Amino acid sequence: MLKTTAMIALLSSGLIILFFPSKELKVPTLPETNWGSKKSGKESTEIRPFKIDVPTKVLDDLKYRLAHRRTYAAPLEGVAWTYGISTKYLNTVLDYWRDNYNWSERQALLNKYPQFITNIQGLDIHFYHIKPTNLPKDKNLKVLPLLLLHGWPGSVVEFQKIIPMLTKPWPNQNFVFEIIAPSLPGYGFSKGAVRPGMATAQMAVIFKNLMHRLGFEKFYIQGGDWGALITANMAALFPEKVIGLHSNMCSTLTGSTFLWSFIGTYFPSLVGVNEHYSRYFPLSRVFFNLIEESGYFHIQATKPDTIGTAVSASPDALAAYILEKFSTWTSTANKERDDGGLTEKFTLDELLDNVMIYWVSNSITTSVRLYAENFNSAYRALKIEELPINVPTGCAVFPNELLSQPESLLKSRYTKIIQYSLMSRGGHFAAFEEPKLLADDIFNFVKKTEELSAAKAA
Ligand SMILES: *[C@@H]1O[C@H](CO)[C@@H](O)[C@H](O)[C@H]1NC(C)=O
Repeated sequence: MLKTTAMIALLSSGLIILFFPSKELKVPTLPETNWGSKKSGKESTEIRPFKIDVPTKVLDDLKYRLAHRRTYAAPLEGVAWTYGISTKYLNTVLDYWRDNYNWSERQALLNKYPQFITNIQGLDIHFYHIKPTNLPKDKNLKVLPLLLLHGWPGSVVEFQKIIPMLTKPWPNQNFVFEIIAPSLPGYGFSKGAVRPGMATAQMAVIFKNLMHRLGFEKFYIQGGDWGALITANMAALFPEKVIGLHSNMCSTLTGSTFLWSFIGTYFPSLVGVNEHYSRYFPLSRVFFNLIEESGYFHIQATKPDTIGTAVSASPDALAAYILEKFSTWTSTANKERDDGGLTEKFTLDELLDNVMIYWVSNSITTSVRLYAENFNSAYRALKIEELPINVPTGCAVFPNELLSQPESLLKSRYTKIIQYSLMSRGGHFAAFEEPKLLADDIFNFVKKTEELSAAKAA
């Protein structure tokens, strides 16, 4: 009886929130803040070619540190990665890093695609810019600009395998992409802000300006993790710039969607879920899993500089902190494996490339500050995440993503979802884990978007 009454109360409040949304939000105009330390003078608009070139001094220092590491507490018997990274496996990785990982080879691979640096709003921003080459002489083949944004604890390393797929003709598609893949401010070779306030909406302004600097008036955008939040903000704040938004982490986290997720646990068909129940529910499983996996989030959102200092103190600490995420976020089942399932989807070289980006740029502290900026009350008060997204949207839902939401709930925020794909395999690091599946989904989404706009123009 009590349960029924509670459900009725919940349902009615859900309906009220759904049908009587709070008054229309105005799209705020964010200031073009200068985030750098030099406040005077006009910033240079120069676009400088860039190559990763880590000084020998930095590499020698790393070699020394890896050779003089401490002995870490052995993991408890039979716990695999359930207490965090297994130091037993960590030692394997650190040995490999010291003895077999060849940076000059890896650096050459990372330098294979053209990179640049340009100053946007006082910050040097690093990006890959790859134009398709050797295209067949097909007059109907269009080249479309696509901005790719990574997240934490990732980097542009995640895009190395998908870049060649997106810049070459794809079966049955009459377009290819020109890729712009930047490092987020404060990540890798992009400088971090020197004063507070650089959250995802402010990064959206930075990347709108980067695309403008490169001469793109309108473009496609794609992202996962923070990249998904930043691209969503770009679509909400600058819809006139964005032809289409493709996301591998579509999300809407308002009170109303939370309520509906709860209701959906008991009445899945009310939120349009008639199959694939376990992708979204029960909410209790999703909730407890989030609690278990989000401790890092709380500390980074509240004390980013403390955790950043601890983790940047040694390559071992940095690798432990970052690699644990690449295990669990690929699949939570990996926690039960002694090797964390790390090499199921990645090579140790690839994983260490990403750790190297954080190490050589010493950017873990500036990277984790994004959590604090995006979750403080001043930023929440802007209510950017409540703005509707009215551009054509494609959501790729990977089965091992930490949080997946039904299309019906996402539609309360993304009003033009033209593609919602339940992907067959893969987790949080879609481009890194399943580049071909992701590329295919992006091509299909862009094809639909192009056809829609052609139909509108006709
Ligand atoms: C690392 O790779 C470079 C380039 O392939 C090669 O010249 C060098 O000998 C390698 N270093 C080691 C220690 O294997």
